[in-house]
Amino acid sequence: MKLATKLIHAGAEPDPATGAIMTPIYQTSTFVQESPGVHKGYEYARTQNPTRHALQNALAAVENGKYGLCFASGSAATDAVIKLLNPGDEVIAANDMYGGTYRMFTKIFEKYGIKFHFINMQDANEISKYINKNTKLIWTETPTNPMMNITDIEAVAKIAKQHNILLCVDNTFASPYLQNPLNAGADIVLHSATKYIGGHSDSVHGCLIVNDEKLKDQLVFIQNSCGAVPGPQDCFLILRGLKTLHVRMERHCANGEKIANWLRQNSKVDKVFWCGFEDHPNHDIAKKQMRGYGGMMSFTLKDDSIEAANKVLASTQLFALAESLGGVESLIGHPASMTHASIPRKERIKNGLVDSLMRLSVGIEDADDLIADLKQAIG
Ligand SMILES: Cc1ncc(COP(=O)(O)O)c(C=O)c1O
Repeated sequence: MKLATKLIHAGAEPDPATGAIMTPIYQTSTFVQESPGVHKGYEYARTQNPTRHALQNALAAVENGKYGLCFASGSAATDAVIKLLNPGDEVIAANDMYGGTYRMFTKIFEKYGIKFHFINMQDANEISKYINKNTKLIWTETPTNPMMNITDIEAVAKIAKQHNILLCVDNTFASPYLQNPLNAGADIVLHSATKYIGGHSDSVHGCLIVNDEKLKDQLVFIQNSCGAVPGPQDCFLILRGLKTLHVRMERHCANGEKIANWLRQNSKVDKVFWCGFEDHPNHDIAKKQMRGYGGMMSFTLKDDSIEAANKVLASTQLFALAESLGGVESLIGHPASMTHASIPRKERIKNGLVDSLMRLSVGIEDADDLIADLKQAIG
């Protein structure tokens, strides 16, 4: 099946009890057993739930993986991956990832004896310098949040394989429509399904997709033991969102291209970061591994001050000032004071995340209306 068909049909069977075409929300905490251990595949809803089961299968199919695992949030999915490790293990991670992931690595897991190296992953060769016998995991996001940097998944996967190190790719920004990291050799794909997969800003959700059975078993053990599982209502919403991912993404890409080009010719705008520009560093890699460039971008002002950014942020009417991304409605954010406030200023400036940097999640409204909104806000 092609992706558009998989997005609509994978994992979903008519309900065996009623024939309902949509997977029901199995709002139950437990399942009655005929006799001890004799049941229909479901015992207790932390361990398994039919609505979640359908979503897990659908997510696996659209990422070209064998197994999907759902979590209460993208962060809970991240937490499960790091719990594969032991004290003394080392992780090599990209230095411009989502601020909450950086916070979890440094503030939660470092104290359990896991060591993190944050490096520039735009050049895959940099990675080899940090590999030693304790390195167990490489963590990357591509495109990155919010600088839109691109990592060459295939090149990193090759290095990871050579050294028997797991590679986890956070695919939240691209979504399964634009990029499938397992095809390029990654071991684990992670999504904050809160974003493009859900697509309607109405639930918080995370997932992992893998091919290896042993790795799946380890992650299922963590999922069940630690219990950060989503409720069936959220699974239903994400399953529904998934069905229109392809049509939404096509519009996100078209609107993204128009807006990135418009921003670039605005006299008050300094830099525009969007991986569809031919002169974007690593555009060639984006072209190789992505099917389009999406609706995420960031830009800076020539007046690089928090005050100038605040003026824009307070003036947009259609672009709502809010955390999150990937929904049908356009959002604007200020990473320095919002999503990335947990990264020390010196560290974020070093990575290009300057005071006036604003991030856009371009929605699927009419592009001309969105441009008019930015025009009146930026001037
Ligand atoms: C790239 C990326 N990964 C992970 C997360 C965490 O996901 P959640 O907010 O669903 O916990 C986010 C949240 O913004 C994100 O942008």
